[in-house]
Amino acid sequence: MKLLNIENVGKTFGKGSGLITALEGVNLSIEKGSFTTIIGRSGSGKSTLLNIAGGLLPPDRGKVFLEDIDLYGLKDNALSRLRRKRIGIVFQAFNLIPEFTVIENICLPSYLDQSKPNLKFIDEILELIEMSDKKGKYPYELSGGEQQRTALARALSTKPDLLLADEPTGNLDLKSGEQVLDAIQYCYHIFNQTTLLVTHNLEISRQSKRVITLQDGKIVSDSIGEMI
Ligand SMILES: Nc1ncnc2c1ncn2[C@@H]1O[C@H](COP(=O)(O)OP(=O)(O)O)[C@@H](O)[C@H]1O
Ligand SMILES: [Mg+2]
Repeated sequence: MKLLNIENVGKTFGKGSGLITALEGVNLSIEKGSFTTIIGRSGSGKSTLLNIAGGLLPPDRGKVFLEDIDLYGLKDNALSRLRRKRIGIVFQAFNLIPEFTVIENICLPSYLDQSKPNLKFIDEILELIEMSDKKGKYPYELSGGEQQRTALARALSTKPDLLLADEPTGNLDLKSGEQVLDAIQYCYHIFNQTTLLVTHNLEISRQSKRVITLQDGKIVSDSIGEMI
């Protein structure tokens, strides 16, 4: 079953002679429960694609469907609600709220939705990503890798169908980056949420069943291999 369908999507930034076509004619269909890695040089359109897939950036051309829901056919409120419930996003910059503790940051998507956070499930995630003892800490008391694992737990806290991660290790040293990628992979194996990961880590893309390469805003290769 398909979870995400991106149909003939295009996006252009700027005006006049400064026009930049960030994406053109992108078609992508993502199977529910799959793990896909997206690679490509800086400026190839990876973040634009992820933001469009995540309901954060309306495309200029084409459509995005989550199951049978036309994301950009929704009113803003409905789209925000859907995003908070069904899509978890991890960015390169951790985007944690400095005045909130780890557990408060993680519960934020539930609070915004006026729903009760699933503390049992959140504890399970924290255990899995080795963050259980950091619940009461503030972001400034954490290493970069711990901050990013907090952001991952926040993204997963509402049991989203889709996890999007845009170069989540971009601001981390090698070892912390590997821990974050390991955490994403463990969570995928345990919770099986459909995952789209933008990464420069060749090891991960080698382990990933499907690797998509973007170049100048187009998909230039889409290879399905064996998940190790
Ligand atoms: N908000 C924006 N305004 C203007 N140009 C943008 C914007 N976002 C991205 N771009 C341009 O679109 C192209 C693709 O960018 P991006 O999707 O960020 O690539 P990647 O994530 O692969 O580095 C680049 O040329 C970039 O400069
Ligand atoms: Mg990017």
